[in-house]
Amino acid sequence: MDLADYLEARRAEVETALAEALPAPPRCPPVVFDAMRYSLLGGGKRLRPILVLAACEAVHRGPRHDVRALAMPAACAVELIHTYSLIHDDLPAMDDDSLRRGRPTSHVVHGEGMAILAGDGLQAEAFAILARRPDTRDPDLASRTLSAIQVIAEAAGAMGMVGGQALDLDAAPSRHHARGDRAGQRPPAMDAAALTDMHARKTGALIRASVLAGAIMGGAGPRVLDALDRYAREIGLAFQIVDDILDVEGASADLGKTAGKDAASGKPTCVSLYGLAESKALAAQCLSRAHAALDEAGLADTPLAGIARWIVDRRT
Ligand code: IPE
Ligand code: IPE
Ligand code: MG
Ligand code: MG
Ligand code: MG
Repeated sequence: MDLADYLEARRAEVETALAEALPAPPRCPPVVFDAMRYSLLGGGKRLRPILVLAACEAVHRGPRHDVRALAMPAACAVELIHTYSLIHDDLPAMDDDSLRRGRPTSHVVHGEGMAILAGDGLQAEAFAILARRPDTRDPDLASRTLSAIQVIAEAAGAMGMVGGQALDLDAAPSRHHARGDRAGQRPPAMDAAALTDMHARKTGALIRASVLAGAIMGGAGPRVLDALDRYAREIGLAFQIVDDILDVEGASADLGKTAGKDAASGKPTCVSLYGLAESKALAAQCLSRAHAALDEAGLADTPLAGIARWIVDRRT
C-alpha cells in the first residue's frame, strides 16, 4: 500500500471512531455537545491518531490482540486533546484567530465561554475514553493502558503542551501590553534553545505521546520504545518548524487557517529566528535523524518512515 492510500485508509477509520467518541444528548446538554462536535468533526489531517495506529501496528507482534481495538481509544484521545488545544489556541485571549480547519473558529460560532467549555469537555472526555477501553480485565493490557494514560497526560499538561503554549503566550508582545506588571515592556527575545524548547512542548509533546502511546499499546519493548521516542521528538519538532514555514509561505485557503498570523502578531517562530531557507534545512535535518532512529529500531520499512516525510513535505 502506498503512503497516500495508507493515510486515507487510517484517516477514514479515525473519522468513524471520532464520530462515535463523544457522549451525546441526553447524557450531556446539546449546547456543549454541538460545540464539541463542531470542532472535532470539522476536518483536520488527523496526524496524531494516525501516528498512534501506525506505531501500534509497527511494533505489534502476533495475532493475540486486534491492533485497532488496542490503539483506537488512544488515537481518539490524542485527537480530542489536540482539538481542544486548537479551540483554546484560537481564543481572543490567545492567538485570536477566526479561521480553523476551513471554517469559523469555535468562539466565533459558539461564543467564547462555550468554546472554552467545549475544549474542557474534549480534554476530560479523552481521558474517559482511555480509562474505559480496551478491556481492562487483562492485567497486561491494564498496565499498558495506564502507561499510555500517563504518557498522554504528561504531554498534554504543564510539562508539555500547556507549558509550551504558556511560553508562546508569554513571548507575544500583545500579552505584555495586556499585563499590568509588564505594561510597555517588550518580551525578551527568544534564542535558539528557548525556541526549540517551546516547540518541543507546545507541539512536539503530543506528537511524541501519540507515537509512544501507540507503541506501548502494541507491546513495544524498551529498546524499540527508546528509538521511537527519538523518532517522535524529531518529527514533533519538524512539524512545528513546517507549521511556522507554512504560516509564511501558505495561503489561508489551503491551510484552512489564517496565514501570516505569526509575523502579524510579532511571535518568535523558526522563520523569524532563522529565515525560510535555514528553517527548511532544519526540518530536513530532523527528518534524517527521525529516519535514522527508525532504522535503529528495525522499523524503516513501516509507514512511520513515510509519515515523517509527509510531515516535512506537506503543504497544509
Ligand atoms: C496545528 O496542528 C497546530 C499545531 C500544533 C501546529 P495540525 O496542523 O495538525 O492541525 P489539523 O489537526 O490538521 O487541523
Ligand atoms: C499551536 O501553535 C500549538 C498548539 C498547541 C495548538 P500555533 O499557534 O502555531 O498553531 P496554529 O498555527 O494556530 O495552528
Ligand atoms: Mg498558538
Ligand atoms: Mg495559533
Ligand atoms: Mg502556527
